[in-house]
Amino acid sequence: MNVLGIDIGGSGMKGAIVNSLTGEMLTERFRIPTPKSKKPKDMAKVFKDIVDHFDYSGPVGVGFPTIIKHGVCMSTGNLHKDWLGVNAKALFSEATGLPVTVINDADAAGYAVMNYGIGKGKQGLVMMITIGTGLGSGAFFNGELLPNFELGQIPYKKYKKIEAYASNAAKERDGLSYKDWGKRFNKFLQLVEIITCPDLIILGGGSSKDFDTYKKQIKIKTPVIPAELGNHAGIIGAAVAALHEIPKD
Ligand code: BGC
Repeated sequence: MNVLGIDIGGSGMKGAIVNSLTGEMLTERFRIPTPKSKKPKDMAKVFKDIVDHFDYSGPVGVGFPTIIKHGVCMSTGNLHKDWLGVNAKALFSEATGLPVTVINDADAAGYAVMNYGIGKGKQGLVMMITIGTGLGSGAFFNGELLPNFELGQIPYKKYKKIEAYASNAAKERDGLSYKDWGKRFNKFLQLVEIITCPDLIILGGGSSKDFDTYKKQIKIKTPVIPAELGNHAGIIGAAVAALHEIPKD
C-alpha cells in the first residue's frame, strides 16, 4: 500500500509517498519550512498543505519532534511550549479529515533504518541518533523499538540540554567547522556510550551524509555508522508507522 509519510522537524516539514511494504519512496520529497511561530495551529495548516500537495487521501504517518505517547505530546522539544499536552494525532486528523498516526521523529527514522536500511538484522542495543535542529534518539533492542529515548536532553555544562551544544543548529549558531562541531558531537556520543552501552550507533538526519568529514573526531569504542537512507529515513519510518503498531501499545 502507498502511504503518505510526513517528517516534522524544528526547521522543515517534509512529506513523500512511500511503499509501505518495501519502504521505498515513490515521489520526490516535498518540504515546507516549519512556521516561525512553531505553534500547533500554524503547523497544522502546513500539514494540510503537504497533504494537499500530494492530492492524497488515506492513512498518514507522522514523525514528530517531541515525546509522543498515544498521539499526545509529552514534551515540547524545539517547538512552541503550547504543544505540551496537545493531541497531535487528533489535531492533524481534524485538519485533514484523514486517519493519522504520530510517533517520535527519531523513533520513526530508526524504524526505517532497522527495517529497510543498514540496521536490518542487527541484534543487541542499536541507538539511532538523528542530527538536526535537535538531537533525536531511537533505541532498538533486537530490532524492537523502545520508544521515546531522549538522549539529547542530557544536561551538559552550562547547557540545559546537550542538544543545545552539539546539534546541527548549534553548529550553525556558533559558526563551527565540521571538525570543531565533531569534537562536540563526540562528547555527546561519549555520554550516550556511558549511559546506554549500545552495541551500535547509527547516525541519521542531514549531517549524517557528511560523516566522512567529521568521523576522525569520533573517538568512542562503540561502532558508529551513517544511515544510508540519510534524511529520508524519517519520512519512510513515519509512513510505515501508519500501518503498523509502533510502538506496541
Ligand atoms: C526532542 C526529541 C526529538 C529531537 C529531534 C529533541 O528536541 O526532545 O523528541 O526526537 O529533538 O527532533
